[in-house]
Amino acid sequence: MRELALNILDIAENSLRAGATLVEIAVQADFLQDKLCISVNDNGKGMSEEMLASVCDPFTTTRTTRKVGMGLPLFKYSAESAGGSFQISSQEGKGTFVAAQYRISHVDRMPLGDFGGVALQLVTMNPHTDFVFTAECGERQGVLDTREVREILGEEIPLGAPEVRAFLRDYIKENLTDIFGGRL
Ligand SMILES: Nc1ncnc2c1ncn2[C@@H]1O[C@H](COP(=O)(O)OP(=O)(O)O)[C@@H](O)[C@H]1O
Ligand SMILES: [Mg+2]
Repeated sequence: MRELALNILDIAENSLRAGATLVEIAVQADFLQDKLCISVNDNGKGMSEEMLASVCDPFTTTRTTRKVGMGLPLFKYSAESAGGSFQISSQEGKGTFVAAQYRISHVDRMPLGDFGGVALQLVTMNPHTDFVFTAECGERQGVLDTREVREILGEEIPLGAPEVRAFLRDYIKENLTDIFGGRL
């Protein structure tokens, strides 16, 4: 994975698989402090403490006991190899919170990549899940809350409808350009 956006997609897919009806994704940059924070919060089924303890450490887990994915370990690695850190917390029946921090200027920090494309894909392909995307850079902030968009559109028009999709694509793109200006 050479784009953080793809890491985000993988982490969000975990949330969807966990049955989340609301997924909040934030990308927050602070160039003065040279810090980037990415977080994904969901209200899915969560994980047991035992599961939580093992998800980030696939290599120390006995491979025969369960299938081990790489989404969380890779996300963790992306942060820790870029002067940052990683957190995960989860509660069964409540949800899961995953966050990674990066030093923006670190040579091994992966570029953000097509975060807008990932956001658009998540929103248009998952009609039964709501998303809140937050993009922040210093004073600039943009929020896209699909619950608000649905409210405006009414029940009959899905977010994946061609006109809505085109609108969202442009809206997301313009906002991200405005906020990050391609600096991530
Ligand atoms: N948001 C989440 N909610 C509930 N369980 C999760 C969540 N994220 C990860 N998990 C659990 O941790 C496992 C490992 O996730 P991951 O590292 O992304 O690998 P994979 O998705 O390929 O299994 C998942 O299979 C799932 O059981
Ligand atoms: Mg995964």
